[in-house]
Amino acid sequence: MRDMAKVRTIHRCTECGASASRWAGRCPTCGEWNTMVEETDAPVADLRLPAGPLTVPLLLGEVDQTGAAARPTGVGELDRVLSGGFVPGSVTVVGGEPGIGKSTLLLQALCALAVAGERCLLVSAEESAQQVRLRAERLCGDLPAHLWVLAETAIPTIAVAVDELAPTIVVVDSIQTVHDPAATGTPGSVTQVRECAAGLAAVAKRRAMATVLVGHVTKEGALAGPRLLEHLVDTVLSFEGDRHHSLRLLRAVKHRFGPTGELGIFEMSEAGLIGVPDAGALLLGDRREGVSGSVVMPAMEGHRPLLVEIQALIASDEVQMPRRSAQGIDSARLAVVLAVIEQRLKRPMNRRDVYVSAVGGVRVTEPAGDLAIGLALLSAQSGVALPPGVVACGEVGLGGEVRQAGHTAQRLAEAARLGFTAAVVPASSPDGPRGMRLMKVHSLLEAARAVGLATPPR
Ligand code: TYD
Ligand code: MG
Repeated sequence: MRDMAKVRTIHRCTECGASASRWAGRCPTCGEWNTMVEETDAPVADLRLPAGPLTVPLLLGEVDQTGAAARPTGVGELDRVLSGGFVPGSVTVVGGEPGIGKSTLLLQALCALAVAGERCLLVSAEESAQQVRLRAERLCGDLPAHLWVLAETAIPTIAVAVDELAPTIVVVDSIQTVHDPAATGTPGSVTQVRECAAGLAAVAKRRAMATVLVGHVTKEGALAGPRLLEHLVDTVLSFEGDRHHSLRLLRAVKHRFGPTGELGIFEMSEAGLIGVPDAGALLLGDRREGVSGSVVMPAMEGHRPLLVEIQALIASDEVQMPRRSAQGIDSARLAVVLAVIEQRLKRPMNRRDVYVSAVGGVRVTEPAGDLAIGLALLSAQSGVALPPGVVACGEVGLGGEVRQAGHTAQRLAEAARLGFTAAVVPASSPDGPRGMRLMKVHSLLEAARAVGLATPPR
């Protein structure tokens, strides 16, 4: 007899899924606070005898490749992030805050796929079939043949429907509202989410059917969500944006079938999500020239250059506990640039509140953003704006030196295309595009001088 086969109570982290025999305020594995919940552990199955047919090793050359190619969804920006489309037999999680547009995106993709002849099933566990139809009519106009909807939450019923319909793609909206009667816990609990996802993944592999799971995440991470599912699935997409603005960004957090760097850009409109393939100047729409603390940086998002405004504001002198706010940029990089400004340029920042943000909801985490962050801070501190038409990019080292970032030529070409006429770049940079004046600098101090920020702070 195996004693392990007894049912026991354990505590599991809703964030990373790690288990512990005792409750703790902080997960011992991932370090998150208040994420341990009590649950009943399922009996451990006897692993000695396989239940189904035996799987045998194959020579790589014997592996069947047919059917493994990605199927384009027809939603260009989604296909860009997926490096082609959904792969048969794969499982994808689309995570994002409620109301961000996950259902809209996937319904648009299903409509396009169904029009292209794929058999599509939408398992709507949150909205009624009528609501789905209304939305599909609004988004897609004529309803496509080959798009079925199933308003159901129980996994066994969903599995039967899948077996009968034999779709090539299934979307389950959402993984937190479906439930498996064979597992413990309420819908949305760690066990339910994990068991339902595992069950659906098994069906996906067996039927070589692409499966997409919608997962809600809240800012607090209160629900068992995509992070818990990360190791169970092939692809995790994160759909982000500010609900109060129309811009939506889609990126791959994990992708087994391609690179994860690509960014998909959409605008939420009355007619649903509209892809923005030429996003170059999209984020600069509301920018005001001649304001201190503002620097434009040609960032790289995947293979695309994207012009991003970095803004800095320095407030309230002589505070005891100065604030450091970094929105859309890496706070560790901000700390480095601030230290360089203090120590190498001898401009004290340590008693002042510092706010730096990348405008438009994007995240600039690459070191190439350092120079723009540094110049934005120096511009904010001196109250002097940069000359118009200037972009800046380069990494700032601890010695205050400015280093080359990758793809400089591509970044500058995009800046020139969008009307920028000058760029502050590292001294080792290649020549810029025609019509663009390069200010080649060795250090942050030289960069500040080149754009007229050499005056001491007020
Ligand atoms: P939804 O896809 O339901 O979000 P999620 O599934 O991530 O919870 O999108 C909800 C929001 O999108 C809602 O506030 C209304 C807005 N929206 C539009 O602006 N235009 C549209 O065409 C649609 C369908 C939704
Ligand atoms: Mg939804």
